[in-house]
Amino acid sequence: MRSIAEQSVDELGGRFSVLTRQKRDHVALNRLLEQVHRTTGTDQERVLLRIYRLVFPHAFAEETVLWPVMRRTLDDGQELTLGVEREHQEVNELVTRLEGLSMGSPERVPILDRLTEVLREDVRDEEDELFPRLQARVDRRELRRLGLLWEVVRRVAPTRAHLVVARRPPGNVVAALPLSVLDRMRDLADVAAYRGPTRMASAAGKASGALARIARAVERLPIMRHGEDPSTRFTG
Ligand SMILES: [Fe+2]
Ligand SMILES: [Fe+2]
Repeated sequence: MRSIAEQSVDELGGRFSVLTRQKRDHVALNRLLEQVHRTTGTDQERVLLRIYRLVFPHAFAEETVLWPVMRRTLDDGQELTLGVEREHQEVNELVTRLEGLSMGSPERVPILDRLTEVLREDVRDEEDELFPRLQARVDRRELRRLGLLWEVVRRVAPTRAHLVVARRPPGNVVAALPLSVLDRMRDLADVAAYRGPTRMASAAGKASGALARIARAVERLPIMRHGEDPSTRFTG
């Protein structure tokens, strides 16, 4: 089995295949991770926001669309998907910790380093193991069908860290719509807040904080935890 990192677009099933779409996002993520370590202050916050907007909908759509298919088609799908779900959960926890720290805090450095490490591990696990296994079991048509489904979910999925929501259906499916609306409003507020020290920017910063608090209350609704494997449950 060859890693999808080494395969051409045609080998991956064409440009609409889920494997091609995944690889494209992973390449973009790698570029942003390099950028985050070259920047500081507000510039770094902007890069982080771009990482969140890429990573969270990407992972959310994996958890709702792709991993259930892996569990159905592979004998050890349960074990394989649980490994990446744990990585996704750690990413949610690290980003939540990062958001609780002020911009100049020295505690950010080890958290950012670990975040980079887990994200890279997640990409390696998917490209070298999970996706080649999926590729061996389904045809090109199915890879394109999964690609379309994954893309549709990704476009409407939450864009921020939610460490309490289940990493599996049905909990995460129920959570998708309300959290996605709150997250995308918060993204807009953050972009305005990073613009500079104006009255508007400070109001946007406050609005972002309020939206984050509402999202935290929403994600604690018991219905959004349904389906969770105990090993990825947030207990803090
Ligand atoms: Fe991925
Ligand atoms: Fe992932």
